[in-house]
Amino acid sequence: MDTDITTNSFNPSCTPHWEKLHQYSINSGHLNIARMLKQNPGRAEQLRVQWQGFYFDYAKSLIDDASLAELFSLAEASPLKQCMAAMTSGATINRSEGRPVLHCALRDPDNFDIDVDGGNVGQSVKDSLQKIADFSARIRSGQWLGSTGKAITDVINIGIGGSDLGPKMVCQALQQYAQQGINCHFISNVDGAEILSLTQRLNAETTLVIITSKTFTTQETLLNAKTALAWLQEKLGLAQPQNSPHVIGITANTGNAQEYGIPAEQIVEFGTWVGGRYSLWSGVGLAIAISIGYEAFEELLAGAKAMDEHFFNAEYAQNIPVILALLSIWYNNFLGAQSCAVIPYCERLTHLPTYLQQLEMESNGKSVNQNGEALGYNSGGVIWGQPGTNGQHAFFQLLHQGTHLIPVQFIGAVNDDLSNDEHHQVLLQNMLAQGAALMLGSEQADAPGYAHYPGNRPSTTLLMDKLTPFNCGALIALYEHKVFAEGVLWGINSFDQWGVELGKKIAKQLAKDSDNGNWDASTKQLLKLLSKGSK
Ligand code: F6P
Repeated sequence: MDTDITTNSFNPSCTPHWEKLHQYSINSGHLNIARMLKQNPGRAEQLRVQWQGFYFDYAKSLIDDASLAELFSLAEASPLKQCMAAMTSGATINRSEGRPVLHCALRDPDNFDIDVDGGNVGQSVKDSLQKIADFSARIRSGQWLGSTGKAITDVINIGIGGSDLGPKMVCQALQQYAQQGINCHFISNVDGAEILSLTQRLNAETTLVIITSKTFTTQETLLNAKTALAWLQEKLGLAQPQNSPHVIGITANTGNAQEYGIPAEQIVEFGTWVGGRYSLWSGVGLAIAISIGYEAFEELLAGAKAMDEHFFNAEYAQNIPVILALLSIWYNNFLGAQSCAVIPYCERLTHLPTYLQQLEMESNGKSVNQNGEALGYNSGGVIWGQPGTNGQHAFFQLLHQGTHLIPVQFIGAVNDDLSNDEHHQVLLQNMLAQGAALMLGSEQADAPGYAHYPGNRPSTTLLMDKLTPFNCGALIALYEHKVFAEGVLWGINSFDQWGVELGKKIAKQLAKDSDNGNWDASTKQLLKLLSKGSK
């Protein structure tokens, strides 16, 4: 097999392992998680990985030793190792966009002394980090002054997708470390009610607007920015707010940001070799550094770097991202699961499932391989979830008694300084209870059907010692690599997102031609209603 993934595509279904896994899945009806745990007391120790402050338990997976061994063999037969090397060497592994994929350089610039597009990757990361350090320190210490000489109290990050979800999720996750009194707000939706109601509450004199957009062309971001700038203009009497100290630009397209009027010294640039959904470690994370301070931001990067090392070096049987990817392939391609729930037992990780939706579904929601040929098997499924215990009182009914197989990934922190013992014990006991209940079910012969719990429903549990910046960085990088490993095993490009382009194009056409009779009958009818409503 030619394993040069810059020119070729891996097809897992052509390996003997795929066929074997298929055979195992046909006989999987006999698999019983609780029984496997009972019959093999070593299973709990065997199916766990301890790494730094993480404890990953996958003993409650719906898989036996033979299928698991076959999955590891599939990984060995795949070009995963070559792909890791290709990624970090700067090879063009994002083939449809003709780009390398170098988000790992953002947390380890010293080891990325490579040139891409005539620039040195490591050096450009260091330059951006220097700016992030400088900007965040000046803003947090009150030295960054607005146009009327007042210190900044509020930051609005305007961006969408990867230019919003990562920093928003991390700012919330690490709020314990945000002690400087700067409020960070996130505006993504083009729904004007958001930006208009936020600006009504804020004082323009002490507000900094960060316009975050890799391309600096995104419709929603530019319209929200326009509204924010009009507000700054009106409140502060600035002729050109975009070149005032109230605006910073974060982008991989400095030309566009400068054309927009933002001065070069107020722009933090990152490389086009960073995918939007992998960009929170770049200038896109400025709001994080402002919120928790640059030192804590560095800790976040250090955690991600440590996870990179784990992913690149640990053998597959001890490699948390690889194990999660293999389990996902097992459930998805062999047991017919179409979705997976991620349930953090931590309210501060409320945005994690949404963040993972972009990371996983934009990366692996593909129907063709790297060569553009149709896949003969499923790729990434649906990721969803919300924090426990709230989810227990909403959709857990379906997890326990519904007709679909939905593997659950529980995530919790053993210690939480912001909580107290009583609350925290109840929170974590609920998490463990749910994993046990999903697996055990309840067999009461005389119970009516509605009180029957079939059980045998799989879950994994990831415990971290505490939700620190380091662990948060490691957790996010863990999922980045899980998605990458899945993509390699499916032979797809996890780093493009062509599927979002058509909708953008049609939205533009609609804006231009809403009266044109060529729209389909349903859209025409809806357009008619909208035009009546706006009169
Ligand atoms: O439309 C999808 C997308 O391109 C995402 O991949 C990206 O994170 C988001 O839009 C925002 O793009 P930008 O940062 O260029 O504004």
